Amino acid sequence: MRVHVADHPLVAHKLTALRDERTDSPTFRRLADELVTLLAYEATRDVRVAPLQVRTPVGPATGVRLSSPKPLVVPILRAGLGMLDGMMRLLPTAEVGFLGMVRDEHTLTATTYATRLPEDLSARQCYVLDPMLATGGTLSAAIRFLVDRGADDITAICLLSAPEGVARLEREVTDLLVPVTIVTAAMDERLNELGYIVPGLGDAGDRLYGVV
Ligand code: URA
Repeated sequence: MRVHVADHPLVAHKLTALRDERTDSPTFRRLADELVTLLAYEATRDVRVAPLQVRTPVGPATGVRLSSPKPLVVPILRAGLGMLDGMMRLLPTAEVGFLGMVRDEHTLTATTYATRLPEDLSARQCYVLDPMLATGGTLSAAIRFLVDRGADDITAICLLSAPEGVARLEREVTDLLVPVTIVTAAMDERLNELGYIVPGLGDAGDRLYGVV
């Protein structure tokens, strides 16, 4: 598994404002959106392309276009939805599938409550959107779900990550024999006893959409 921590002053600037408890929901949504677009640039570094010939007004040029099948973007509901527009800005022709997962606040285990994904993901590159890589339980289950359907390359974009979650993913995705990459804006210190990332930014879903 490859972990890429984005090292860029603009990423750090936006992330700091996102962490700030005084940042209201509309501003939080805008910052998350902008941050994802910056992370998406890193995350799509290995997106598959095929050669394409075009004519410029001056002459022929050799370029590329996104390969078929198109990449699949998979936000994990609910908080991953706040990352979707920022991702689609860079990959407007990607397809979108949805995975609804919730973690039990006591056991911290993840269960799937909704799926809207192609049955067959053979040869698909998948981009999973999950803002907080905390215990790693949700992301690990999501990755396994996609690989079981045939996905052969997975990149997860997480605004924040905790070392405990990364370590768990390292253990749980290695046997899948599919390349997995994590792209994140920062690796935080640790998890607290409630499974929140410290210092983190609190509950990403609540900060995006309010406490419901
Ligand atoms: N989910 C969140 O929204 N925040 C955390 O800190 C951990 C999990």
